[in-house]
Amino acid sequence: MRNPKTKFDEREFVTKGSDYLFNYAEKNVGTIDEGRRNFMKALAIGVGVAAVAGLLPGLRVLPAPGVGITKFPKVLLVDSSGSPLKASTLPINEPVITIYLYPLADEPNFLLNLGDASNKPVQVQPTEVVIPQTGEKYSFPGGVGPSKSIVSYSAICQHLGCEPPEIHFYPPSYMKLGMPAPAELTAEALLAAKQANAPGVIHCDCHGSTYDPYHGASVLTGPTQRPLPYVELEWDPTTDYLYAVEEGGVPVYGHTSDLTGGNPLSGDTTTVSKTINPFS
Ligand code: FES
Repeated sequence: MRNPKTKFDEREFVTKGSDYLFNYAEKNVGTIDEGRRNFMKALAIGVGVAAVAGLLPGLRVLPAPGVGITKFPKVLLVDSSGSPLKASTLPINEPVITIYLYPLADEPNFLLNLGDASNKPVQVQPTEVVIPQTGEKYSFPGGVGPSKSIVSYSAICQHLGCEPPEIHFYPPSYMKLGMPAPAELTAEALLAAKQANAPGVIHCDCHGSTYDPYHGASVLTGPTQRPLPYVELEWDPTTDYLYAVEEGGVPVYGHTSDLTGGNPLSGDTTTVSKTINPFS
């Protein structure tokens, strides 16, 4: 008969993510050193995610280890016709999911021009971002562009890896109760955003993680215990062009490093795509 102490609890896994998987493995294997801990964690995450991937919409199946790259490339953001994107033309508080790949070919990132409730650009200040999982902090460099309101974050949820359209930006005009499911925000998320002075949020509809894009995509509500990684952008005021130059914060979900676990981008441009409006 199966020992109930060793039973794998899928509900706990969905709620707590990789932390549950790792604790489960540690309880049943015993004390393990750091190297084996990391190896087992990666293995456990992969097995666990694969087991439930078919049950959860938008869940990311972890990428197979790829070639990786040795340093962050500097790439120009271009539109679908290949023309350089002009920062001053980016709509403010755009609800349409706008993404591009960087620094690897399997990693989508949001491109956001943030505004207030009147759709006026908000200058996004540099800030310290806390990682709830560890209590550590890192520096987020703030917004770029003519109003310093343009930011970019990984579009892969740090809880269990859901991608757009399940995770997306909620502009200020959508910050209310009563939105039709699954695009609904909880009272807890709205309160956390208000307390953080965040006019809008990034919310993952898979299990309700909420991030504050006005303050480095810090965590507003769990179950995620990690903020969204940021992409550092450069703005050239003479051309109005935008460049992605580096990724920072915690490693992207499913990767042990931002430089490994996927294939390189080809060329020195990346295409910014408007996908769908999750509210329509
Ligand atoms: S994957 Fe669970 S909240 Fe996003």
